[in-house]
Amino acid sequence: MATIAIDPRVSSRTAGFVSTDHRMLVDGRFVKAASGKTFPVYNPATGDVIAHVPEAEAEDVNRAVLAARRAFDDGAWVRMAPSERGRLLWKLADLLEKNLDEFAELESLDNGKPFAIARVADVPYSVDMFRYMGGWATKITGSTIPLSCGYDFHSYTVREPVGVVGQIIPWNFPLLMAAWKLAPALACGCTVVLKLAEQTPLTGLRLAQLIDEAGFPPGVVNVLTGYGEGAGAPLAAHDMVDKVAFTGSTEVGKLIVKAATGNLKKVTLELGGKSPAIVFADAKLEQAVAGTASAIFFNHGQCCCAGSRLYVHEKVFDQVVEGVGKIAEDIKLAPGLDPSSQMGPLVSDEQYRKVVGYIESGIAEGAQVAAGGPVSGMERGWFVRPTVLTNTNPRMKVVQEEIFGPVVCAVPFSDAEIDKIIQRANDTVYGLASSVWTQNLSLAHKVARGIRAGTVWVNCHNVFDASLPFGGYKQSGWGREMGEQVLNNYTETKAVTVAL
Ligand code: NAI
Ligand code: MG
Repeated sequence: MATIAIDPRVSSRTAGFVSTDHRMLVDGRFVKAASGKTFPVYNPATGDVIAHVPEAEAEDVNRAVLAARRAFDDGAWVRMAPSERGRLLWKLADLLEKNLDEFAELESLDNGKPFAIARVADVPYSVDMFRYMGGWATKITGSTIPLSCGYDFHSYTVREPVGVVGQIIPWNFPLLMAAWKLAPALACGCTVVLKLAEQTPLTGLRLAQLIDEAGFPPGVVNVLTGYGEGAGAPLAAHDMVDKVAFTGSTEVGKLIVKAATGNLKKVTLELGGKSPAIVFADAKLEQAVAGTASAIFFNHGQCCCAGSRLYVHEKVFDQVVEGVGKIAEDIKLAPGLDPSSQMGPLVSDEQYRKVVGYIESGIAEGAQVAAGGPVSGMERGWFVRPTVLTNTNPRMKVVQEEIFGPVVCAVPFSDAEIDKIIQRANDTVYGLASSVWTQNLSLAHKVARGIRAGTVWVNCHNVFDASLPFGGYKQSGWGREMGEQVLNNYTETKAVTVAL
């Protein structure tokens, strides 16, 4: 294999893992792709190839699904005491926590995000998700139900695991998305085939080693690396998969739904967004400026819930745009492993081109650049400057489409009716998240009620917790992740009625 350039700042332990001969986890064994094929993994800060990983295709998917099927059907996992399943999830969390720095380095190297962010957000939130869901393993209960059709019956419900689950995740929070998907499925007693994002497979492959170390039985968790069409599509279509859970683009979400029709497998989707942040004139401006800047610039705007449409009352519009623009201009762009980095590169050349293309299209359609712009000024790497656009109109691509980069469209609104601003905020095919910035309690709740989205934040944005359900209205998805509600995604309800 060609020599590989790894960032000299990573520890020898991380470098050691990156340069290993990578294997996927299938049926409790670490394996190459059936074809022997591999594909390259890049450092987005430089564009250098840093590793090669197995390229799973239909045959590998089939082997992994058969392993998960066997592990489910032989009953040992399903029959395992819930407390024991919970204990395994806790053990995995402990192992992850023990290797916090290594995972943060890997994530930074592979995805581009600042090491400091991965260390305080991605990895600890993943740890927390495994612990939180480990707690649920013993609390997945049914109910007893009084029947009106007759007295001489005893009826109750049981919640049973849905079966073999195919999970397909994106690259924006590679480890965290794996945790969001795996933890609830395993707590419920499902077995899993997880396909990692092709752009960012490294933390998922390392997690697979910890899953093995924690002692999950063979076949309960299978982890594949491969491309969307090559590996994701056959997983979504596989007849022995009972359910598919997907996070990614709305476009691919629709393909997943089609692929699932063969055996009518259950589908949950966590898709795109074009989330509004609405700042009223009475908002605490300092808080609103910092908060709405972070709403769009956190994780380089590569968040499905990024606050990418900033509606600001005209009285404070200039102040807010200037404040957010200043934050944008002051953000230090540098490779994620550079300790001075406040924003790293975007994840891939494809995303870089896409986001720069959006900025250029906005400008071509008449938008003004209040901060940032299409030229990063960086010598190499897929960097995009945090950008604020003004003077847009509601039909522009930059206002309607998900950019998935650090680009916000700021739009003023007047004293017009509240309903009008709610209508504008809802003028999108998406409905994932939103934030509202005001000191007026009743106004905040009115807007919260009017917004058609799965999350409304008041005087904050991007607050996540393992206990809070998250997901989309409209074309932002089906079902909810996290919280108690995610258990619905991974269980079937059985009604048992006994004639007494
Ligand atoms: P994508 O939707 O193509 O990829 C997400 C996952 O789906 C990856 O694991 C990929 O391999 C897999 N995939 C792709 N095509 C598939 C298919 N036909 N069948 C089954 N699986 C398939 O997203 P991509 O191309 O990485 O990013 C494109 C855009 O999607 C972004 O610019 C952003 O707008 C949106 N996106 C949204 C995310 C979210 O969190 N909601 C995450 C990532 C991307
Ligand atoms: Mg794609």
